[in-house]
Amino acid sequence: MILYFSGTGNSGYVAQKIQHATGDKLISLQRLFREGKLRDQSFHSDVPYVFVCPTYAWRIPRMVEKFILNNNFRGERRVYFILTCGSEVGNAVRYVRKLCTKKNFTLMGFDDIVMPENYAALFDCPTTEEAKKILVKAKPKIETIAELIAQQKLLPESKARAKFLSLSNGFFYLFCVRTKLFEVTNRCISCGKCAARCPTQTITMQGDPLRPVWGKKCTHCMACICGCPARAIEYGKNTRRKPRYFLGDQYLDTEII
Ligand SMILES: Cc1cc2nc3c(=O)[nH]c(=O)nc-3n(C[C@H](O)[C@H](O)[C@H](O)COP(=O)(O)O)c2cc1C
Ligand code: SF4
Ligand code: SF4
Repeated sequence: MILYFSGTGNSGYVAQKIQHATGDKLISLQRLFREGKLRDQSFHSDVPYVFVCPTYAWRIPRMVEKFILNNNFRGERRVYFILTCGSEVGNAVRYVRKLCTKKNFTLMGFDDIVMPENYAALFDCPTTEEAKKILVKAKPKIETIAELIAQQKLLPESKARAKFLSLSNGFFYLFCVRTKLFEVTNRCISCGKCAARCPTQTITMQGDPLRPVWGKKCTHCMACICGCPARAIEYGKNTRRKPRYFLGDQYLDTEII
């Protein structure tokens, strides 16, 4: 069973490639989060679980970690973790190992795949052309990982790099993950896609004409700002006239059951 979370499509793309190779069930956490299904569910799999998600501040996203902790995974104990990232996962593997111990999982492999950077709020996303090149470069690694998982083989051991980076994860959630700077411009066409995609259900469409309004609960997944078809969302001055990165809705909540 493949469970994936994706804000802008990279992890969904990888999860779908793994699904093609394995034929396993594919479950979108983005969808479950949006439906408020965060805890006390039971999943059952007779083949290894595969978790695919982005890297947030050099670890797996907190929402994904909480989801794994707060739900039951029955059957298979073997598990793979595949993280997509913009450049560097730091010591994420250490926290994944701890999580596996808590859940009584046997880690068959952890790996990271460098994909286009999506953190528009704080960093520079690639242009469309640059993103295409990064995706082409990532493809062979994705295919190799998918094949190894399909054969239920161990992935080569992942060595932790830049260990200190992952330590700043708590600081990141405390000081960086905010909605205060999100704003909508008059380019908005009231399509409601930002609200519909938000995994924390924090965006509501209000007023006449309808415009998104952000609540407080946010995981900085970038689905709203990067996925807006009218480029009508800004994050303060940080994002003005800068590229956004969004691979497509079909990679956020496709499920194959
Ligand atoms: C909140 C946030 C934090 C991020 N932190 C990291 C990071 O620590 N290291 C990194 O290489 N990329 C980081 N990124 C980039 C994403 O991990 C990367 O672009 C990922 O492939 C996005 O996946 P998605 O399209 O499935 O959401 C971050 C992105 C966001 C939105
Ligand atoms: S996705 Fe963009 S255009 Fe659509 S409602 Fe949200 S801000 Fe407006
Ligand atoms: S408000 Fe935007 S960035 Fe925050 S969780 Fe919702 S979609 Fe993601």
